[in-house]
Amino acid sequence: MLIPLSSLLLSSLCLCLLIPQHEAVAFEFPPAFKRASSESSTPQPPVTLFVPLNFDSNGRYTVNISLPTSSSQNQSFAFALSTSTGYTSVAGQGCSSCGGSPTYSVPSSIEMGTSVQNVSVLDSGVAGPVMNQTCNLHLQNGSSWSWTDQSFIVANQSNSIFSSDISGVLGIGTNSREGSFNETPMAFWLANNPTQTNFSYGLALNSPNDASSSSNDAGVLHWLAPDENSYEGDITWKTLIASNSSSTVNADSFVEMDSWNFQGDNVNISAYTGLLTVVDPLFNDLVFPQNEARTIYGAIPGSSRQDAISATTVYTLPCDTQLQLTLTFGRPSRMGPDIQPISDISRFQLKQLLRLC
Ligand SMILES: *[C@@H]1O[C@H](CO)[C@@H](O)[C@H](O)[C@H]1NC(C)=O
Ligand SMILES: *[C@@H]1O[C@H](CO)[C@@H](O)[C@H](O)[C@H]1NC(C)=O
Ligand SMILES: *[C@@H]1O[C@H](CO)[C@@H](O)[C@H](O)[C@H]1NC(C)=O
Ligand SMILES: *[C@@H]1O[C@H](CO)[C@@H](O)[C@H](O)[C@H]1NC(C)=O
Ligand SMILES: *[C@@H]1O[C@H](CO)[C@@H](O)[C@H](O)[C@H]1NC(C)=O
Ligand SMILES: *[C@@H]1O[C@H](CO)[C@@H](O)[C@H](O)[C@H]1NC(C)=O
Ligand SMILES: *[C@@H]1O[C@H](CO)[C@@H](O)[C@H](O)[C@H]1NC(C)=O
Ligand SMILES: *[C@@H]1O[C@H](CO)[C@@H](O)[C@H](O)[C@H]1NC(C)=O
Ligand SMILES: *[C@@H]1O[C@H](CO)[C@@H](O)[C@H](O)[C@H]1NC(C)=O
Repeated sequence: MLIPLSSLLLSSLCLCLLIPQHEAVAFEFPPAFKRASSESSTPQPPVTLFVPLNFDSNGRYTVNISLPTSSSQNQSFAFALSTSTGYTSVAGQGCSSCGGSPTYSVPSSIEMGTSVQNVSVLDSGVAGPVMNQTCNLHLQNGSSWSWTDQSFIVANQSNSIFSSDISGVLGIGTNSREGSFNETPMAFWLANNPTQTNFSYGLALNSPNDASSSSNDAGVLHWLAPDENSYEGDITWKTLIASNSSSTVNADSFVEMDSWNFQGDNVNISAYTGLLTVVDPLFNDLVFPQNEARTIYGAIPGSSRQDAISATTVYTLPCDTQLQLTLTFGRPSRMGPDIQPISDISRFQLKQLLRLC
């Protein structure tokens, strides 16, 4: 797939995944993708906007967006976030495969596009005609961040994207698969802030599995700029790898994970493989490729493979199994058994204790 140069020039985008009050890992495009600053001095960085996140019933992260509909000036809908696409979609009225969520009725003043747009995100997807609409993203302090001419897929067909409490998806990916970065909210802001060289956001996410959190507080999206008070220490930078025609996974970009380690009672397995990963809050399962999964579960006594459920395979494990999973993003990208441990400053590690029953 050829990506038009004009869209690349605008597509400098920094994402920052924050574990509150801890380390952070940030993803950015390689330098060739950045818009050169035309000013000799760098512009003032924008002020962080705090966008509260809620969980839907499946533990997915949602924001509130209000839109004019055919019956209301301003109806609020829950939109899930996805970094795997830059397309925004909303469940259209009458869509029978849209999960039973509140649907969107197009105002009569809105002109619908004639062609059907189709987007796939991993194994899910939506399709429908396209409209442009004004959006208001609800902020923590009661105000909202508004923008115009956001293009929406008004879904009349969908597969596992919407749910009973998700009516839309806000695409905060790059749209590199379609080469249409200009259909993203980030492009709107860059077009209106021509001296800025990049768009950044941060995600400070709470875990949906955190039993101590009975509230619906899923964390905060730091819009326009990551909030520096939300992390400590240095940021580990990883360059996003854009999807290309040989990619078999439906996502705009990938992050290279440098190593992973599973540790448990009788298990200690590591791999330094430079695995390409999709980091997307739309999916809160950790999914490993089959080869790696076989290695891991093969080492756990008593584990067995279940029948494949759609594209993934599920394993059952003995109830008393406890594993700690450590994912490392950061240099050196390849380690051999003879390489000395590296300083923590250049690495980002995510540790999770997995209790399996
Ligand atoms: C992004 O732009 C800000 C100015 O708004 C600048 O301070 C910062 O260095 C830029 N970051 C990158 C990675 O280019
Ligand atoms: C979104 O709107 C609903 C209903 O108006 C409200 O209950 C919820 O708290 C809002 N969530 C956020 C994150 O603003
Ligand atoms: C819709 O609501 C937001 C606040 O949630 C407000 O900023 C915006 O002006 C409203 N738009 C209209 C057309 O009423
Ligand atoms: C949406 O707006 C863009 C330009 O901002 C325009 O090119 C496109 O045709 C519009 N689409 C519709 C369906 O109105
Ligand atoms: C969407 O894309 C898929 C795969 O390319 C295709 O099978 C499907 O027919 C498309 N749907 C529409 C509505 O274009
Ligand atoms: C979705 O909308 C498009 C364009 O309006 C139409 O061609 C298509 O048949 C519709 N599909 C469904 C499942 O309603
Ligand atoms: C909410 O925060 C934004 C960004 O800091 C600010 O522009 C706006 O005035 C604030 N609104 C209120 C009601 O405090
Ligand atoms: C396509 O992406 C893969 C990684 O997904 C990479 O290994 C390969 O070199 C890329 N091919 C091209 C032509 O860029
Ligand atoms: C697990 O293996 C790694 C190397 O693969 C080693 O550094 C670590 O000490 C081992 N941990 C335990 C508890 O044996």
